[in-house]
Amino acid sequence: MDGNGRWASSRGLERSHGHREGSKAVRRIVRAARRMGVDALTMYAFSEQNWQRPLAEVSALMELLTEFLVTEREELMDNGIRLRAIGRRQELPSPVRHVLEALETDTEQLDEMTLTLALSYGGQEEITDACRGIAERVRAGDLECSAIDEALLEAAIPSVDVGAVDLLIRTGGEQRISNFLLWGAAYAELVFTDRLWPDMHAEDLHEAVAVYQTRERRFGRVPEADDASEPTDPEPVRRAGE
Ligand code: FPP
Repeated sequence: MDGNGRWASSRGLERSHGHREGSKAVRRIVRAARRMGVDALTMYAFSEQNWQRPLAEVSALMELLTEFLVTEREELMDNGIRLRAIGRRQELPSPVRHVLEALETDTEQLDEMTLTLALSYGGQEEITDACRGIAERVRAGDLECSAIDEALLEAAIPSVDVGAVDLLIRTGGEQRISNFLLWGAAYAELVFTDRLWPDMHAEDLHEAVAVYQTRERRFGRVPEADDASEPTDPEPVRRAGE
């Protein structure tokens, strides 16, 4: 959700105004995604690296986040939206953690859509934490090194609980991933838009999804039309007398 700062600066406003406007865009895009039937929406609200921003900006973001969790509670629940967070939540101020965890608990049975907020999140950090957990299981004698494979690592990466990323949208004109969902986005389709995050509306989400629908996803395979090989699961050959 990039571009809040520039949105504010271009109007001669403090960056925090951009974040406030950005949180209105969060509401619009969550609603639009739910209406479109999106199963899982993950939003990069605060990166592990964002702690290095000026204290006033970090505090404004934490306040907005708390406000969002309080004011959106009813709408999330009425619309069957489960809310959860990924990232190093132990680094969040305890009042934020408190409202966050209460909402996670209250919405955990809802299944129309999962809204995941990435908070104090970094893709490298998430993979590192997963590796540390696995190493501890090996040290405790609960796991053999030879049993470590991609499936085991993936099971230890919380952002992938909702499945791999299909479409990753970055607003604000930059064309990079910035440590977001590194594992799950291995085969994601990327859509970059110059639109600044506070200017994002439902139509922009629809447009990004329309672009996604034109993409051919091959996952390292050849296009179906060029695949002249035998079907992978052929009918068994029947011999006389069988
Ligand atoms: C990046 O834009 C955006 C952020 C670091 C924060 C995103 C937060 C919100 C959209 C609002 C609060 C979130 C919720 C879930 C209510 P930037 O500040 O780096 O923009 P710039 O590149 O123009 O400086």
